[in-house]
Amino acid sequence: MTSGFEEMWAELLPVGRSASSGGYRRFAWNSADAECRAWFEQQARDRGLAYELDRNGNQWAWLGDPHGQGAIVTGSHLDSVPDGGAFDGPLGVVSSFAALDELRDRGAEFGRPLAIVNFGDEEGARFGVACIGSRLSAGVLSQEAAYELRDADGVRLPDAMERAGYDPTAIGADDDRLSRIGAFVELHVEQGRYLTEERPVGVASAIWPHGRWRFDFHGEANHAGTTRIEDRRDPMLTYANTVLAARKKAKQAGALATFGKVAVEPNGTNAIASLVRGWLDSRAADERTLTALVAEIEQAAAERGGRDGVRVELTRESYTPVVDFDGPLRDRLAKLLDAPVLPTGAGHDAGILASAVPTAMLFVRNPTGVSHSPAEHAERADCLAGVSALADVLEDLACQ
Ligand code: GLV
Ligand code: MN
Ligand code: MN
Ligand code: MN
Repeated sequence: MTSGFEEMWAELLPVGRSASSGGYRRFAWNSADAECRAWFEQQARDRGLAYELDRNGNQWAWLGDPHGQGAIVTGSHLDSVPDGGAFDGPLGVVSSFAALDELRDRGAEFGRPLAIVNFGDEEGARFGVACIGSRLSAGVLSQEAAYELRDADGVRLPDAMERAGYDPTAIGADDDRLSRIGAFVELHVEQGRYLTEERPVGVASAIWPHGRWRFDFHGEANHAGTTRIEDRRDPMLTYANTVLAARKKAKQAGALATFGKVAVEPNGTNAIASLVRGWLDSRAADERTLTALVAEIEQAAAERGGRDGVRVELTRESYTPVVDFDGPLRDRLAKLLDAPVLPTGAGHDAGILASAVPTAMLFVRNPTGVSHSPAEHAERADCLAGVSALADVLEDLACQ
């Protein structure tokens, strides 16, 4: 098992990694994503698993009948954020194959179909909405809405899919498939410092509600050297003040607000910007706090915009309500593994599937808590403990 994990890890490690930063750029339907997908298919075939691509571009590897009832499914995603780490996503997929190998070594006899899944476009790095593959399958993102999504170069999602050799015409809810799943368990690297004590593996209780909002700050382009301060309508100023307000208000609310992406037009050093577009990612422990926080940030932006002569427009690009994972399943896993139970502020495909399928998550300890960064790390011993824990869980769920 250990060598299988090492071998798979070593194969994936160079795919889509930037030589300068060491971070990953595996975005939906780009060439690194294609390499990851080819790797997944090969892993399935090497193990004699039935390989399947669903209508939304998610990949499945089946042991047993793909059309059987009550399947136990595990897996995660292989795409990354811009300059992401090696573990967020791939740890869950590699651990799934390694856990299956371990169960076969144990001579496990499965009473239900077992599947490993690679959900497409979990991070939403290219088209702005996270968990596109699982959202489409669960019917929380419609084909119509998906067809409207564009990347930074204006390429539409269906065109990107088609260029990568996939048929976008069938995308949409996959109720039949989801109704055949008895349970979904996603293993994931923990993304904060909440598992640093003696236990290397934890069980998720909940995911904080979270969403993405786009603020468009419309000002007036003008000359940097000749426009008097009092004559300016500078959207950069409104944007900067909104970032400061977001941080202050999030801190007051015990919540989180992040502007991690910004686009400026015309983006010239010696021109006042005409438009600043800033994307807010905000999360809180409950939906009321989150809604109130975003409203306060919007109000702060509008007030400042009024003073700056800048018009502010707000668009909600995606939203995920609070996720409480299936109670009996969570308790069963925590008891089986004698593991701590903890919530997370990070979004996952498991959070999307939880609306349709009994779902649970395992977290593997992250010693620094750093994630969405090339510095993301998990100790190898903890990763292997995660594989064994996942094997125990799959055995408990599928071998009855
Ligand atoms: C996904 O990793 C997210 O929480 O943004
Ligand atoms: Mn992530
Ligand atoms: Mn992830
Ligand atoms: Mn000039």
